[in-house]
Amino acid sequence: MRILLTNCKIIDGINSYQGLFDILIVDEKISRVEKHITDVEAEKIIDVQGNIVMPGFIDIHCHLREPGFEYKETIESGSRAAAKGGYTTICCMPNTKPVIDNIHLVRELRRRIYESSKIEIIPIGALTIEQQGTEICDFKAMTSDGIKIFSDDGNPIMDNAIMLECLRQSRLYDFLIIDHCEDINLSKDGVINEGKISEKLGLKGIPKTAEEVQVVRDVMLAEYTGASIHIAHISTEGSLNIIKWAKQRGIRVSCEVTPHHISLSEEDIIPFDTSFKVNPPLRKVEDVDALRKGLKNGLIDIIATDHAPHSDLDKPGDFYKAANGISGIELSFSVCYTYLVKEGFLTLEELIEKMSCNPSKLLGLNKGVIAKGRDSDLTVVDIDSEFIVDRNQFISKGKNTPFHGKKLWGEILMTISKGKVVYEKEGRFNVYR
Ligand code: DOR
Ligand code: ZN
Repeated sequence: MRILLTNCKIIDGINSYQGLFDILIVDEKISRVEKHITDVEAEKIIDVQGNIVMPGFIDIHCHLREPGFEYKETIESGSRAAAKGGYTTICCMPNTKPVIDNIHLVRELRRRIYESSKIEIIPIGALTIEQQGTEICDFKAMTSDGIKIFSDDGNPIMDNAIMLECLRQSRLYDFLIIDHCEDINLSKDGVINEGKISEKLGLKGIPKTAEEVQVVRDVMLAEYTGASIHIAHISTEGSLNIIKWAKQRGIRVSCEVTPHHISLSEEDIIPFDTSFKVNPPLRKVEDVDALRKGLKNGLIDIIATDHAPHSDLDKPGDFYKAANGISGIELSFSVCYTYLVKEGFLTLEELIEKMSCNPSKLLGLNKGVIAKGRDSDLTVVDIDSEFIVDRNQFISKGKNTPFHGKKLWGEILMTISKGKVVYEKEGRFNVYR
């Protein structure tokens, strides 16, 4: 299948494309990027009308809930929601029921992905059996079956010796560890950030140190083993300072931040609106500021959604009873564009680097750049379009968003994954043939 995109303003964070270009896609690869391509017969010609074309976004951290929690999300609904958000590759966490902790479950998950997803989904394996933090998985078997990323996200690994062994084996079998840093003895029973807001609302707080002690632990173990580690959803200035120190020391650490942690603080929490309840919690304004600066100065490598869909039943108004998590994959780009680019913290080039190029590099994919020979995963965006978020228009089954009713800028017009149009905003383009 040949698709010709014309009049594209290309931004990929790497190349400097001046003016408008045409892009020819042949099946799963980008075949040509030139000023005018007039000498080919394409099955589809799409006039992008000067809108911005970027490499498809890559999410290294999301939750799809299948198997086991299909009432919250399925591979099908989650992947369609991701496509609407401009994502062409997503990595799904293993905290399903059952937990993805052996090759049989990996194979079954892959079968379901093959049947129901139009975008690329990379499964993440669990680090420990049932994510209990006590017995490590059979990494040899799971890596030979193609699993390249492991995480116990949602359930931190408290035992340092277990984490040390996971890191040792990550070198041996060449896989990436994404770690959820939380000391559960310190965060215990907390529901929002510990501080003036938790005091005001009379809710038990989660101290920043619950995250930071685990970040310290991880970088020390990474240094000791020589392994690399990726820290999930960092949320405090302190975590960032530890990562700065570790990077300066040459420790192989990378980290991600979520769209909600760079846009919202504890002060935005509306009492009884548990769509603001997330783990790690929304932190202080000073932390949000530090995270935005950390993106700019390169300490933070990646923006990952931590898309965590829940049903309304899982999110009653009581903060102690509500599940943690934000359904975010459909809005990630718009949230980041609004709060980072429009507010002058990042350029659009820098944003796309964090959402596509850097995740592609970390995972060793042939994506994240628009050039001949790269995978034909593309996202078309109208950055001038503004809209009011309506949770009822989400494709995701999880309507749990703290952005409902808020105004955002930047809308996804089209997503192309593996050379196929997987999302198109109705009525925006004339598609010929
Ligand atoms: O808010 C969160 N939701 N944080 C996690 O670590 C897990 C996630 C989930 O699975 O719902
Ligand atoms: Zn997560």
